[in-house]
Amino acid sequence: MKPTVSILPSLLAGDFGRLEDSALKAEAAGGDALHLDIMDGHFVPNLSMGPDVVRMARRSVRIPLSVHLMVTRPDVLADAFIEAGAATLLIHAEAQGDIGGTLRRIRGKGVRPGLALNPETPAAALDPYWGAFDEVLCMTVHPGFGGQSFIPEVLPKISEIFSMSQAGRATVDIGVDGGLDLDTVRQAAGAGANIIIAGSFLFKAADMGRTVANLRAAAEEALGAADDN
Ligand code: DX5
Ligand code: ZN
Repeated sequence: MKPTVSILPSLLAGDFGRLEDSALKAEAAGGDALHLDIMDGHFVPNLSMGPDVVRMARRSVRIPLSVHLMVTRPDVLADAFIEAGAATLLIHAEAQGDIGGTLRRIRGKGVRPGLALNPETPAAALDPYWGAFDEVLCMTVHPGFGGQSFIPEVLPKISEIFSMSQAGRATVDIGVDGGLDLDTVRQAAGAGANIIIAGSFLFKAADMGRTVANLRAAAEEALGAADDN
């Protein structure tokens, strides 16, 4: 079965003086879900938003919230984001604490668990956790900041995870996060990514709705080609 493409605007690129308006804008533009970046100043050298912002988004938009925890201790922080309204919770394989147990706890609370990999982390880091996650998030920039350039060296890893998923290891969605635009989305979806997270490209666009549609069309075409291989 062909995986479907989802386009997720990243609120990190929104207007921090008007975050609710930014969330509503992402929804009105046709975003399938809203991506929220949580940073603890330790796992990454930046701070961003906490559970209250997730709660605000949950009240404001109807689309699901995909929460990306760039934190050292997701085992300690996961529950607060589940309670705040996350539909998907992505934790990093490089984080500390019990990763497998945290993925299982997330699923046990009715939330979709995902595992994120930094650009240099190999696909083998997923090995102990197959079956415990529904999505792999391949970072295509070093996490911590929006507006960075896509790292093409991540593409072979995306193909590798796509092959593992197609081979029936477990069917997972493959997300890509960082530096996505019309050019890089073709590369990422061509390697098998079907969840496209984009911050600056979407929020800086003159017409966000049209840009979401263009990104989706480019991803669907490239993913179709990947799927036929
Ligand atoms: C980076 C974040 C990304 C970021 C992507 O640490 O995880 O979600 O918002 O932003 P762009 O699309 O601007 O690279
Ligand atoms: Zn992110």
